[in-house]
Order: sequence, then structure tokens, then C-alpha cells
Amino acid sequence: MPCTENPAQRADELRQLIAHHNLRYHQLDDPEISDAEFDALVRELRAVEEAHPDLQTPTSPTQQVGAAPSVQFAPVRHRTPMMSLDNAFSFEELLAWGKRMERFISGEVAFVCELKIDGVAISLLYEDGRYVRAATRGDGTVGEDVTGNVRTIAAVPERLSSPTGQSPSVIEVRGEVYMPVPAFEELNRRQAEAGLRTFANPRNSAAGSLRQKDPSITASRELSFWTYQAGAMDGGPRLSAHHETLEYLAAAGLPVNPEVRVLGSLEEVNDFCRHWLEHRHDLPYEIDGVVVKVDDLAQRRELGATAKAPRWAIAYKFPPEERTTLLKDIMVSIGRTGKATPFAMLEPVFVGGSTVALATLHNEDQVAAKDVRPGDTVFVRKAGDVIPEVLGPVLAKRGRGSKPWRFPTACPACGGPLVRLPGESDTYCTNVDCPAQRDQRIIHFASRGAMDIEGLGERTVQLFTSLGLLADVGDIYSLDLDRVRELEGFGEVSVRNLEAAIEASKDRPLTNLLAGLGVPHLGGAGSQLLAATFGHLDRIMAASLEELAAVEGVGPKIATSVHEFFASARNQAVIAKLRVAGVNLAGPEGSEGPQTLAGMSVVVTGTLEGWSRESAEEAIKARGGKAPGSVSKRTTAVVAGEAAGAAKLTKAQELGVPVLDEAGFAHLLEKGELP
Ligand code: IVH
Repeated sequence: MPCTENPAQRADELRQLIAHHNLRYHQLDDPEISDAEFDALVRELRAVEEAHPDLQTPTSPTQQVGAAPSVQFAPVRHRTPMMSLDNAFSFEELLAWGKRMERFISGEVAFVCELKIDGVAISLLYEDGRYVRAATRGDGTVGEDVTGNVRTIAAVPERLSSPTGQSPSVIEVRGEVYMPVPAFEELNRRQAEAGLRTFANPRNSAAGSLRQKDPSITASRELSFWTYQAGAMDGGPRLSAHHETLEYLAAAGLPVNPEVRVLGSLEEVNDFCRHWLEHRHDLPYEIDGVVVKVDDLAQRRELGATAKAPRWAIAYKFPPEERTTLLKDIMVSIGRTGKATPFAMLEPVFVGGSTVALATLHNEDQVAAKDVRPGDTVFVRKAGDVIPEVLGPVLAKRGRGSKPWRFPTACPACGGPLVRLPGESDTYCTNVDCPAQRDQRIIHFASRGAMDIEGLGERTVQLFTSLGLLADVGDIYSLDLDRVRELEGFGEVSVRNLEAAIEASKDRPLTNLLAGLGVPHLGGAGSQLLAATFGHLDRIMAASLEELAAVEGVGPKIATSVHEFFASARNQAVIAKLRVAGVNLAGPEGSEGPQTLAGMSVVVTGTLEGWSRESAEEAIKARGGKAPGSVSKRTTAVVAGEAAGAAKLTKAQELGVPVLDEAGFAHLLEKGELP
């Protein structure tokens, strides 16, 4: 960001930048920077203007709401201006606002807390209970007429009912049009398949869908609506508090979000905000904060408004989870099965609470769908607060002559061919001698979920293999520790610790050994089933394909893979080394694994990173639990992966059934209790 010593020049620069980004956001639905970066520009301008009041102008973006309406839709003058909200970017700022309210207002203050829906603000007009018009906010005074498009949204009623018998002849209703996350993902999938541009986030897709000239396109997009405010009203019931307004609007048939709470203290307001900061991703739609409003309408009138925003409300904004950064390169990493996974090398960026420099791009199709290219500025997000995700490019910043990225044809580790089988989305290096695959196999074997050999992590394995000290997992047990002792960074203590860790790993249960061998498709749950059924590695190796497939919970795919794995002379040689070293090959014959989920019912929805749907359900059943396909009041928990079913999530929310991510699922499987 350019930074100058001269405040007048900087204010000018900031105004130009803000105007530019306002245009990209409001008119083109194609922002170049994240909301957080935009907010930072406005905050900087406000700070400059506060320090130099002579630089303030009535037309400064700090004094305005949104952007001027575009020419495409007919202008609509709002009956009362659609104001914006002041923001609090921390709990401290929120509490400072609340304390000001309590000081300013005579008497008790009750606050209404609402979710801040990340969509598009819309004003609806009903005359004699009939829907007559919908308009965007525009510049707050004049918006755009989107009546036909909004009419296609099922959640927006065509007619209001008359709950009190005193219906207003005219009522203006404000709310947010949004796109549920699963609908957004599905839309992007469809767009990509049709070779059309994908949207950076659900809000842009909602805005883009509303901005269609042809309402049938809007109708084909799954949009929804939450009402949060009443505007001008002629006649109708006497309302003295905001929560009464919301109750009235709900009774009239408008959708009011169920998470609204009336709270009597700032501590409770604080708890509400903290709760949703942590649980925002449990919802099937995106929220970007919490809106806190003074409940009493007389108190609101006492407080009034500034030019831009009411004093009686504030938006507590969640810390940003989305940023833009430079995509320096796209590389391919080779896994233990040879799978070649493209990943983004990013200019490190702080997002969602940590610095992100790498992000998986999953496979060739995903890169193509997002059309991200080295050199692009890209949007980066922390999905579910954990896994960093590249959302897409900022097209306006793309350099001339940029070309789509091509999946490499040769393995970056061994130079062998990379092969993608027809009908599959993954690409593989098929060379079993590939050094990257070999390293990953050894790293996996030594990892915590398998043989748990402390001190034999990624770097050490790569060092040892590069020196010829290890070629496969069998070599771990005859590692030349005298040579290791001579290496830089390996003192006597660390060598002795490594030796002890290797020794201790010989006694791990058969399940761990099986999982550590890296048989394709065989995960923890399958390993447990095989170990429990056959009781010894030798019996698994000797089992026929039919015997393997007959094990309850082991499908034909896993059975074939296990059978092929142990038929290979190379793998047999590795097992021989393990046997000679005295590694435990025996399992708990005939016994089941711990029945941690006995009596529980766990529903799996969406795509998990480390499990297929089948293997996750098998793992639940192997522990004595049930894994039904739908949510009911008997459900213990819902495990939600990427693109989880919206209906299931909504049902879980309604019934108060906890929704777990993958880490929560792992905890449940192991401990038999909710995290
Ligand atoms: S109240 C004068 N309540 O946030 C008060 N706004 O950053 C009008 N928004 O323009 C707004 N959820 O588009 C209100 N529960 C909620 C909201 C909400 C989302 C949006 C709305 C507003 C923007 C301000």
C-alpha cells in the first residue's frame, strides 16, 4: 500500500482507492480486496480526517453509505434512508459502545443481538399486505429496483398475513438476501462445469444473482432471506420495542432468524458474540459478525443517528478470515501412494488467526475450476477455521499474457510419468521406486497414528533416505546408529532417544502396524477390523480375497487392495525385515476393538478429508455405534465435512444435536464422548 508523509495526499489516495473498490464490489460484484482490507482503508481515512478535520469533505466515503446505484436497474428512492452500521472490530470496542449507551440512556437498557448475515441488504415494500417492490440499498437514499428478481425468492412472501388485525397500509421491511453455503458451492460447481466464472464467496454470488436482467436466472439460484428491521410504516400495530417488531414481522409471515436474543447485560452480549465467533461455521449460511441493537424504540429515538449510521446499533465484526495474497507458484507434492497433489505456494498472509503460506489445491480439476495461475493475486480463506483454502483469483490484477496452469506430466521427485486414469480426478506417479513416495511411506509408518516413533519425523526421514540409511520401513529396525551419531545435529541424547523410540515401536498393536504399512484404501478402522478378525499378520497375508472381503465392514475395494499388497514380493521382503527385528505381528484374536460408541447414533454428512463416507460409517459401527442416514432426536452427533447437507445441518440445529468437524469426530471415536 502506498504510504506518504503528506496527509492531504494520503486522504486523496485513500478516497480514490475506496471509490475504486466500492465500484468493484457494488457494481461489478467482483471485489479485488477482502472486506477486512476494505475496512482497513476506510479506517485509515477516518483516522486521517480525525487528525486533520480540515481535510473532511461532505462527499468523503467516510460520510457515505455504499455506492451510487448502477444504471442497469431503475432507481428507487427509499421512503426512509437505508443506513449503514458503525463497526466494532473487537470485544473492547463493542463494550465501549455498550457502556456509552448505558451512560447516555436514562433507565435500564436491553439489547437485541442478531446474527450479521453476510449477504445483500434489501428493502421490501408491501402495500395493503401485497409485495410491490424490492430495492437494493444503493447509496442509502436511492437504490436499484430488483422487484422481479426478489420475487423469485421463496422465503419472500407475496402476501403478508394480518396477525393483529391492524395491518399497515404500507410497510417497508429491511433484511438480507443471502445464498446458503451448500447452494453457493453447488452453483460454483455448475458455473465451473459450464466454463463460466465462479464466485469468490456466497455474498458475491447472492449479489451477482440479484443483479440478473432475467429473473429466471435469479430463480435458478437458491437465494434466501432474513428480515431484521422495519422501515417506514403507515398504520399498523403500536410497537414499542424492536423484539416486538420482529415478532410482528414473523407473525406476518416474514422469515426472522431464530437466533435473535434479547439480553439485559453487556456480559450476556459479550457471551453471545463469543459464542457465534466460535460457532459461525455450524450455520448453513455465512455470518460476518453480530449486530447489537438497543431494544426500546423510545430510547432509540433519544439516541438518534449520525449522517451514516444510527447510534443505537453497532456491528461487531468477526476478525477477518479472508485475505488476498500473491500466489507465487503452484507445485505438486507426491504422497505415499503416489498421488500427486497440487498446492499453492503463497506469499505468507495472516488469515483466520494464523499465517498461511501453503494451501492444497486438491487436484487438476480444482485448479481448473478456480483458474488460479502463478503470479495471480488470490483470495485465501480459512475454511472451518482450520484448513487454508484458495478461493479464486482477483482477475483485475492478472497480468497480461498469463496462461492457465498445466498439470506437470513428469513427477517432480523422480521424473517418471504422472498418470491420470479416465474417470478419476487424481493423478499418480506410478513409479514404486519414486523417492518421494518412499519417504512418505516411511514418514507415515513412523507417525503418531501408526508406529509412533518419536524423533523420526519428515526432515529426519528425508535426511536418512538421502544418505542411504533407510530405503524402506523395514530398515528402521537395523538403522546404523553409529553413522547417525556422526551426523550434524544428532547428539548422544537424541540418538539414544531415537533408539528407545524405535525399540518401543516393536510392541505396538497389530492395528497400528497394519495402518502404518500404507496399504492403499486401508485406514485405521479397516486395520482394526482385520487385526480383530484374523489375529495375526500371517493369517491376513495368507487369507484369500474372499476371506478378506467376508469381513463385515471391509468392502471389496479394501479387500482387493490388501490382497494385492501382500502378494507383492517387495512388500513381503519388508515384512520379513520386520519379523526378524521382532516387531509384534500378533493381534487381539477374535476380540473387538473398544466399543466406545455403544448405544450412540452418529450421522455423517459431506466430504471429510481423512475418511470416505463408508470408512467413517464403518468406524462408527466398529465401535458399537449406529450410523443412520438422517438426523433425529435420537442422534448423538452429526459429523459434517465439506459441502455438508444443509437439511441435515438445519435439522441438527433445530433439535440441538451437536455438529462436529473432523477433529471432533476423531475425539468422539477415541473417547466415546463429545469434544
Ligand atoms: S440492521 C440501521 N441487522 O449489515 C440498521 N443489518 O454493515 C440497519 N446486516 O446494511 C441494519 N445482518 O446489510 C442489521 N441482523 C442485521 C443484519 C444487518 C446483516 C447487514 C445490512 C447492513 C450491514 C451493515
